Amino acid sequence: MDQRLTPAALRKLRHALLAWYDENRRELPWRRDAGAYRVWVSEIMLQQTRVAAVVDHYARFLKKFPTVQILAAAREASVLAVWSGLGYYHRARRLHQAAKLVARQRRGIFPRTAEEWRELPGIGRYTAAAIASIAFGEAVAVVDGNVERVLDRMFAAAEGKEAAWQRVEALLDRERPGDFNQAMMELGATVCTPRAPQCPLCPLHTWCVSREANPARPQAARKRKQLIYGLARRNGSVLLVQRPANASLMAGMWELPILPDAQHNGAEPMAKLRHAITDTDYDVAVFTVAPARFHSSAANARWFARRQWQRLPLTGLARKILRRLPA
Ligand code: ADE
Repeated sequence: MDQRLTPAALRKLRHALLAWYDENRRELPWRRDAGAYRVWVSEIMLQQTRVAAVVDHYARFLKKFPTVQILAAAREASVLAVWSGLGYYHRARRLHQAAKLVARQRRGIFPRTAEEWRELPGIGRYTAAAIASIAFGEAVAVVDGNVERVLDRMFAAAEGKEAAWQRVEALLDRERPGDFNQAMMELGATVCTPRAPQCPLCPLHTWCVSREANPARPQAARKRKQLIYGLARRNGSVLLVQRPANASLMAGMWELPILPDAQHNGAEPMAKLRHAITDTDYDVAVFTVAPARFHSSAANARWFARRQWQRLPLTGLARKILRRLPA
């Protein structure tokens, strides 16, 4: 069903959404000063990652790499080290590559339009539109998972991403495109949530076909897996292994050696923890193993003292485990 809004209704809708945003927006560090570099870093971190998980990493990242030139001059390992814990590490690699392009080939001049931003590594349609609208005021709309859900409910349709792009383009407030886009994303993240939407609080209530219809979406089932690691210590150092450079996940990052299931002989683990990655919950057990067990270990294993591993690109889980070790 196509539900067309009159020009007067569109004006009211935009006004209601922006008034809600002005009143309720979260104070986020990249909103305080929406310079291109800051907005760019925030949007890369926000890909597939919730705002709450991004805020601390964002502050650390900007402290360490305050400008695109400083980021471009950094070693990849130190970029990954600051990214550790955020996941989806190819984002950090591409951001770093793109920073080198901006700093060197473009002499520090940022792209302006969404079309130009898309030429950089790691920047697709959504991220390009987000940066160009927020940092440069370009009148382009964005659709992420949150915006798609808001629109699907508003129009009682589930026509997929492409239809959502077209619908939101028609709704976009062309005077305040960056705020409009952030308002839509924020509405999806905080009010029009997947399972318990707060329809009475929603500024788009009047125009929403599914309001109060309890349009909760079924959640994908989470998976559960076991992971067993070995912790070998020698003179205050720990043994870590580097993931292959061509691994599809967390390539080149360091972690504890995985222990084949049968090799802990019923001993008690020295640590047990839970770790969630996308749709999987891992039950993690860490067993102490004798350093001698690793004498013949592969070329990708090395011993690291604390001050060394603290600066290493560790997987988020490895960092979580190592932080539990007594100093
Ligand atoms: N998700 C991705 N980018 C965002 C932004 N700028 N504001 C709120 N949520 C977002």
